[in-house]
Amino acid sequence: MEYQFSDKMVNMKPSAIREIFKSLGTPGAISFAAGNPAPESFPVSDMARIGADIFANQAVQALQYSVTEGYPRLREQVRKRLLDKFGIGTENDDLIIVTGGQQGIELSCKVLCNEGDTVIAENPSFIGALNAFRSLGARIQGVELKDDGMDTEALEKCLRENPDTKMIYVIPTFQNPAGSTTSLQTRKEIYRLASKYDVIILEDNPYGELRFAGEDIPTIKKLDTDGRVLYCGSFSKVLSAGMRIGFLLGPKELIQKIVVAKQVEDVHTNIYFQMLCSRYMDECDMDAHVEEIRALYRKKCGWMLECLDKYMPSCVKYTRPEGGLFLWCTLPETIELTDFVMAAKDQLVFVVPGTAFNCDESAPSRSFRLNYSMPSMEEIEKGIRILGELVRTMM
Ligand SMILES: Cc1ncc(COP(=O)(O)O)c(C=O)c1O
Repeated sequence: MEYQFSDKMVNMKPSAIREIFKSLGTPGAISFAAGNPAPESFPVSDMARIGADIFANQAVQALQYSVTEGYPRLREQVRKRLLDKFGIGTENDDLIIVTGGQQGIELSCKVLCNEGDTVIAENPSFIGALNAFRSLGARIQGVELKDDGMDTEALEKCLRENPDTKMIYVIPTFQNPAGSTTSLQTRKEIYRLASKYDVIILEDNPYGELRFAGEDIPTIKKLDTDGRVLYCGSFSKVLSAGMRIGFLLGPKELIQKIVVAKQVEDVHTNIYFQMLCSRYMDECDMDAHVEEIRALYRKKCGWMLECLDKYMPSCVKYTRPEGGLFLWCTLPETIELTDFVMAAKDQLVFVVPGTAFNCDESAPSRSFRLNYSMPSMEEIEKGIRILGELVRTMM
C-alpha cells in the first residue's frame, strides 16, 4: 500500500543524532555524538532499593492511573527545589510534571501556537524542540546565538518583522548544542523585548544545576514580573534520563491549559517513576549526588579541553563551557563540514554536524557538537587526537 502522510509529518526526518546512534554498535567506535548523561551518574543502588520497596509496599498506587498534574508530593518537592536553587515560583505560578522536558516544550508550543505562527529560537538550537515546533506547524525563525546569548538586535528585528510571533524559545544556561551561557544583561534584554512585543518566553533549563565553573546567573523566570515566562526543567541530566520526568513552572492559567493538552497526550507521566523520583529526593541526598555529577563533568570537560588545546590546530575554534554536556567546535572556512564529519565517521569517531541544529535545516554550518559526558577519559584523548589529525590532513 502507498501511505499518505499528514502535511505536518510528511517533511519530518528522523533526528540526525538518533541516526548516528545506529552506527555506534561498531567495536572501537568513539562517540562524541550523544547527549546522554554519563552512565556512572545514575544512583543505581538507591534506585534499586527504593524501587523494590515501592513494589513491596505501594504497588497498587504505582500500578494505578493517577492525576495529570503529577504526583502531589513530587510537585511539592520540585517547587521547593526551584525556589531553593533558583528563587523561582510565585503564588501566581503552578507546576505540572511532564514526560521529560521534551513533552514540556511540545505542550507549551501546542497550547500557544496556531499552525503558521512564529516561534523564535536561538540558532543553533536543541533539535528535539525544533522538531516539536515543526511537527505542530509553527514557523521557526532563528536568531543568531552569540557567545553571551541571542543577538538581541537581531531578535528585535525578528519580532518587528514577525508580528505573529507567539513564543521565544531559549536555553540560556549551558546551551545545547553550543555549550554557551546567556549573560544577565542579555537575559534582561530578551525579557524586555518579550514584554515590548507581548510574547511568551519558554525558558528551557535542563542543565541549570550542572555548573562546574563560574558564577550562577539568575534565570529569565526570576526576572518575570508579568507572567510571561514558562520554565521547563528535567530530571534527565541529574537523576535519570530513562525515567522521563520533567516539569513546567509557569502562570496558573497557562499550566491549566497545558494540563488539558497533556491529558490528551498521555494522561499522566509514569507514576511509578514519579514515586521513585520523589522518594529518592526524600530519602537520599540529592544535592550531594548533583555535586558528584558536577565534579565528574568538570573533570571530563577539562580533559576534553586539554586534549583540544594539545591536538587541535589553532584554526579550529571551540567554546569553553562552564557546565552542561557539550562544547561546540568551528572549522576553518577551507574545510567542508560534511566531508569532515564523514571522514571522522570512517575513522570511527562520531560527532554531530552543526547543520542538524540549524533552525533552517538547509542552511550551511561550519560547526560540530562534541559531548564529553559519555566517552571515557581514554576515548576522549584518542578521539580528539584523531579529529586533530584529520583537520591537519584536510587543511
Ligand atoms: C536543551 C534541552 N532541552 C530539553 C531536553 C529534553 O530532555 P528530557 O526530555 O530528557 O527531559 C534536552 C535533552 O537533551 C535538551 O538538551
